[in-house]
Amino acid sequence: MPEIRPSVTSQDILCAEVAAPPNAIVVFGASGDLTRRKLLASIFQLSAQDLLDERFYLLGCGRKKLSDDSFRKAAQQAIRESIDHVSARDLNSFVQRLYYIDGDYEDIGFYQRIKAKLAQLDKKHKVYDSLVFYLAVPPLLYPAIVERLGLAGLACPKNLGTKRQIKLVVEKPFGRDLKSAAELNEHITHCFDESQIYRIDHYLGKETVQNILMFRFANAIFEPVWNRNYIDSVQIIIAETVGVEHRASYYDQAGALRDMFQNHMLQMLASVAMEPPASFEADRIRDERVKLLRSIRPLKIEQVGDSVVRGQYGPGSINGEQVVGYQAEPGVEPESKTETFVAARLFIDNWRWRGVPFYLRTGKRLAKKDTEIAIFFKKVPHSMFISAGLDDIPANVLVLQIQPEEGISLSFQAKRPGSKICMSTLNMDFKYRNVFLVEMPEAYQRLLLDCMLGDQTLFTRYDGVEISWKLLTPLLETWQQDDSTPYLYRAGSESFAEADKLIESDGRKWREFSKM
Ligand code: BG6
Repeated sequence: MPEIRPSVTSQDILCAEVAAPPNAIVVFGASGDLTRRKLLASIFQLSAQDLLDERFYLLGCGRKKLSDDSFRKAAQQAIRESIDHVSARDLNSFVQRLYYIDGDYEDIGFYQRIKAKLAQLDKKHKVYDSLVFYLAVPPLLYPAIVERLGLAGLACPKNLGTKRQIKLVVEKPFGRDLKSAAELNEHITHCFDESQIYRIDHYLGKETVQNILMFRFANAIFEPVWNRNYIDSVQIIIAETVGVEHRASYYDQAGALRDMFQNHMLQMLASVAMEPPASFEADRIRDERVKLLRSIRPLKIEQVGDSVVRGQYGPGSINGEQVVGYQAEPGVEPESKTETFVAARLFIDNWRWRGVPFYLRTGKRLAKKDTEIAIFFKKVPHSMFISAGLDDIPANVLVLQIQPEEGISLSFQAKRPGSKICMSTLNMDFKYRNVFLVEMPEAYQRLLLDCMLGDQTLFTRYDGVEISWKLLTPLLETWQQDDSTPYLYRAGSESFAEADKLIESDGRKWREFSKM
């Protein structure tokens, strides 16, 4: 297997991270799942890497009654659960910068108390009102919180002519369809300017998703073949083994199309298919993403079954363990029609991609955790080895493996030692783990740091959100109105007959889950 080693060049100097300026984060939903599973550990890692200013603090806001001390204890436990080796000293000193306040999100009095607490904390930490408000709450609460932040005078539209730098981080999904996304945006933009809004799609913070742009646009050899002349089709897969977990109250109202497809899947598609931006600036990159999303051919609703298939997991077994079907999960409606799997064929109507099918597939309770983008190149136009029986030479496949084993692999044909015409498919593999010898940082770490630094490159802009809902809202409405139900698939499978038909009717096959 070819060995890949990073060579040290003067460019490596760029690898040094810039530390965040003095600021504080106010987390709504501080006693919730996202804070416990992702945010606290990511912020702790930033602190452990000296990327937070010494004045940094975090104010957690939640419904649960907690003292500063009990919040700190819970935070310590959450961080230990997420990170393997934690220095007790670092952790103890980190949690001293955490504070907590409880209240009711609908009550304006809560925001007055938050304001007073921030004023008091500012005396000690002196971040001069440079604040990030992070909404780690169920999306239904976004409007109420944003409106009250405005009413309490905490929002400060535009950050103009003031030392205060206020930002708002909003988790996905941004709205549930085109109309609700527009309403939510209007609500938010009453109190915050677009330049202050950081809409999270955590896939954009994953190292391997960021790498798609580097791979495509920092190498001259791939772009010339990155188009309809050389590429036969593209597959984008996000397969998960987990089920709905304890998020039924959210997920049963959302489903895979809203939860994964409208955001993570389409953003990966945009990264792999967009045109080269002129520079690595937030808006130049976001312009190209939006332009690409705008070029996706609208789905023909009358024939939607030909290009989109939805499924729901039934009982089965994952890694040898029996698991219940979706409808038997705690909190899920017994006859729920919510889809946990979506497969789709999309076309991009522009010069580069016209006629190339993009097959997208995402689902919960599948056989393996596997996120990857596979680029299938066209076969050789003519086999000169036909007289020796080699008339169907496999095409090259380039796989950008996003997780869990991050890497890149390119398959190609080569002569095997032995008889004169003896050929094998080989893989040129590169694995981040083997080459860079580091743990891949959590996506939230990147995104939180970028937000504090005021860099919006990896956050979605409203026009991008709008265009993706425009594409998918007619489909959601059709699903809601018609009597059809998602196909049932066995938990632990890779796919199912109806989803296979979607791709096999084009003479292609789903790629097997990665063996990397
Ligand atoms: C979240 C979805 O955005 O992404 C979850 O809401 C999903 O349903 C998760 O499980 C997957 O993220 P990752 O980083 O584990 O691939």
